[in-house]
Amino acid sequence: MIESQSEVRRDDSSAVAPPTEPLVAKELVKWHLIAGMTALGVAMLAGLFYSLQLLQAWPLPKIAVLSPGRIRMIHTNLIAFGFLTNCFLAMLYWTVPRLTGQRVASRALGWVIFGAWNLIILGTWAGLHLGEAQAIEWGETPTWIDPLVVLGAILVWIQMYTPIVRTREKALYVSLWYFTAGFIWLGLTYIMGNFFPEYLVAGNAAGPLLGLYIHDLVGLWVTPMGWGMMYFFVPIILRKPIWSHALSLVGFWGLAFFYPLQGVHHFLGSPIPMFAQYSAVISTIAVEIVVTSVIINFFMTWRGTDGSLRRSIPIRWFWVGALFYFITCFQCAFQVTLTFQKVIHFTDWVVGHAHLVMFGVFSFWIFGMIEHLWPKLTGHEWWSASLRRWSFWLTVIGLGGMFLTLTASGLTEGLMSMNLVPRATILEAVRPFWLTRTITGFAILAGYTCLVTNMILTARTSRVAHIDTDYGPFEQVDDEEVAIGAV
Ligand code: HEM
Repeated sequence: MIESQSEVRRDDSSAVAPPTEPLVAKELVKWHLIAGMTALGVAMLAGLFYSLQLLQAWPLPKIAVLSPGRIRMIHTNLIAFGFLTNCFLAMLYWTVPRLTGQRVASRALGWVIFGAWNLIILGTWAGLHLGEAQAIEWGETPTWIDPLVVLGAILVWIQMYTPIVRTREKALYVSLWYFTAGFIWLGLTYIMGNFFPEYLVAGNAAGPLLGLYIHDLVGLWVTPMGWGMMYFFVPIILRKPIWSHALSLVGFWGLAFFYPLQGVHHFLGSPIPMFAQYSAVISTIAVEIVVTSVIINFFMTWRGTDGSLRRSIPIRWFWVGALFYFITCFQCAFQVTLTFQKVIHFTDWVVGHAHLVMFGVFSFWIFGMIEHLWPKLTGHEWWSASLRRWSFWLTVIGLGGMFLTLTASGLTEGLMSMNLVPRATILEAVRPFWLTRTITGFAILAGYTCLVTNMILTARTSRVAHIDTDYGPFEQVDDEEVAIGAV
């Protein structure tokens, strides 16, 4: 049983917390967003630099600490742990107290977590430069960082479970289902991926564990946080309950049952036993159905909200993210088959897929959340409507172009390899695609710069808005609509 969206909405005045301390720790939300966006900037620069290496134009040769391999790991690790995790923490600090009517365990603990987590990110960044990486994809974090991450996860459990356990609500909204499970899954996934292959299991047996780890980090941490975030913000921005609570729960249980089984689909055609590969294929098909349920729920909720795409930039981000999610799912239907794997394995197709889901879906939803929250956090109206539009279009066009060029490059590479074309010829053939990837990377970076500039100027100089600090459905975009909070 879950409660209706109208019950989910509550403002600070209905909180159980004493009036001296507001329900939501806004400063923590703000600073986690700032840290996350800073990490994203560094990660994007690292991605751009690494793309230059693939064009044989590495600008900093013969400097070990800046060698391209290390820069690639900095790109992926800062995305996962610096950007996504910081932004998800911001999202949790905003949503969990609202959904439970209870404050998080302690604000002081919040600052400890903020400081410790970002020191962990800095340590990872420095460790990777110094060549201390573990040979575990997405788990390259230096070995001395790993226990600290587990400790950090435990502190987050204490912080976020406290309001969930204390809540007087009889039923929990579906976002809380995802969050509650996601915290546990994060700890288990991290321990499995970073400790087992490093210390306990070696060789071929470690393969399935690594597959499980890279997939579960996305599926059991990023996905539950992302889905919970979407289910919270979209109905609130649209001022409409989600289309189907039942479907949202089908998504939850489907994710819980099928996601952990599909990790081996990263190693199809490898020496891992075929029964494990086939079971990964079957559970991937099941997960596709589950993801489709979330996409349907989003679009059915959005349906009938006349002009919301034109009026609301946050909804635009969520909408395009859901569309990209559909494309990712559609791609999956092909790429999970052994036949198709023969073409695309080890090619840019996979890199295109990774960017589409990690950036095009979950990061776009985070941008939607930032667009919705930033005026409420700063108390100022957005500084520039046109910067908001520029940031949206540059990012969408940049990411769309990057995905298309990497998909085309992957197919070219795969088909040429199948025909035993020499590697040097293949590399020449994909060069124009890689050049296009770098150009699209600049477009994405430009979009990011517009968003961050607007955030800074909004916080510093923009005029103070009469904002409904909790809910503001439609926002002023083209000087056509009422400003946020008018309703
Ligand atoms: C300025 C924009 C970006 C550029 C130029 C860029 C470039 C790259 C490059 C060159 C790689 C390595 C590909 C290879 O080894 O063949 C990579 C990997 C990756 N990037 Fe980015 N990236 C950008 C933004 C992002 C963003 C914003 C995200 C996620 C939010 C992201 C997620 C990833 C992931 C998950 C991988 C690993 C892919 C895999 O191993 O299959 N990137 N990126």
